[in-house]
Amino acid sequence: MQASQAAATPVLTPTSTHGSNQSHRHTKRTAKDYIFGKLIGEGCYSTVFLAKDIHTGKEYAIKVCEKSYIVRHQKVQYIKREKDALNKLFNVPHGFVKLYCTFQDDERLYFVLSYAKNGELLHHINKVGSFQLNVAKFYAAELLLALEKMHANKIIHRDLKPENILLDENMHLQIADFGTVKILESDFKRGSSQNTTDKVEELKEKSDETNDRSRKNSFVGTAQYVSPDILQTRIDTPASDLWALGCIIYQMISGLPPFRASTEFLTFQKIMKMEYEFPEGFPSDAKDLVEKLLLLDHTKRLGANDIGDTYESIRKHPFFDGIDWDDIWNQTPPTIC
Ligand code: ADE
Repeated sequence: MQASQAAATPVLTPTSTHGSNQSHRHTKRTAKDYIFGKLIGEGCYSTVFLAKDIHTGKEYAIKVCEKSYIVRHQKVQYIKREKDALNKLFNVPHGFVKLYCTFQDDERLYFVLSYAKNGELLHHINKVGSFQLNVAKFYAAELLLALEKMHANKIIHRDLKPENILLDENMHLQIADFGTVKILESDFKRGSSQNTTDKVEELKEKSDETNDRSRKNSFVGTAQYVSPDILQTRIDTPASDLWALGCIIYQMISGLPPFRASTEFLTFQKIMKMEYEFPEGFPSDAKDLVEKLLLLDHTKRLGANDIGDTYESIRKHPFFDGIDWDDIWNQTPPTIC
């Protein structure tokens, strides 16, 4: 498809709706309002650049997507969901990159995001090899709090991994890359109370996505962190993010993800067979928590049956002893070492 054809497709409604930044609120932004700098991230269908607002000098991470690619690869729904999820989370004070505005030109879509200066958690894990226990515990706690907010907003990330977890200028955690999210209309944590229209819409979306996924023999997520439920049944529940939490805690402490193989296929096989082991010296509380998160049956994972908007059963696990859940975002994070 030619770029001119793609431009006619209403891929995304531009917005500049959020009140916290006056300069974004009242003016219609274009790419000319920014000086684009270095490349800071690359996804399957997007590229992220560091950019400076020419009016304020403020730095942003601008995610750029080629419209022709989005249309050709039928990713329009993904882009819309990413924007919806980021909008839903805009007023959550901690734990997420913020979407300040979107705009488009003939060829591209632009997402203006907060810039997480200290980059990917993966980079920090790899730099030191593995985290000391207090560091792993701190970031696991911030990740859990962010998951609570995301799931309370009925958003399942489906691709949590240390590359999608960024650190801001104060070294606090921010979840990024909502390109694979699922936004559920039903109250998934408490069970029922879903109206018929919601149900029909959700089923339609699910069926479209399942067709899409099976047609391309693809899956949502990244091989090493994908849960067996997504692999096997393609059921979307918040417990798939709890599985990823287990993998990330394991990786922060040991340096590597639990399920590793030379190909995606072999990685999937290991996940389905729960073929992983703990290295010697892995702390026992951490081991117990990881074992309770990495369960094949998603309904049995720690937290999966918690009522309300917090994961009390995970918060109470001995691994998190000493964490002040009400104050963590105000604390100075422990030095990574
Ligand atoms: N890479 C992708 N998104 C980013 C962001 N918001 N900040 C920093 N690096 C990123």
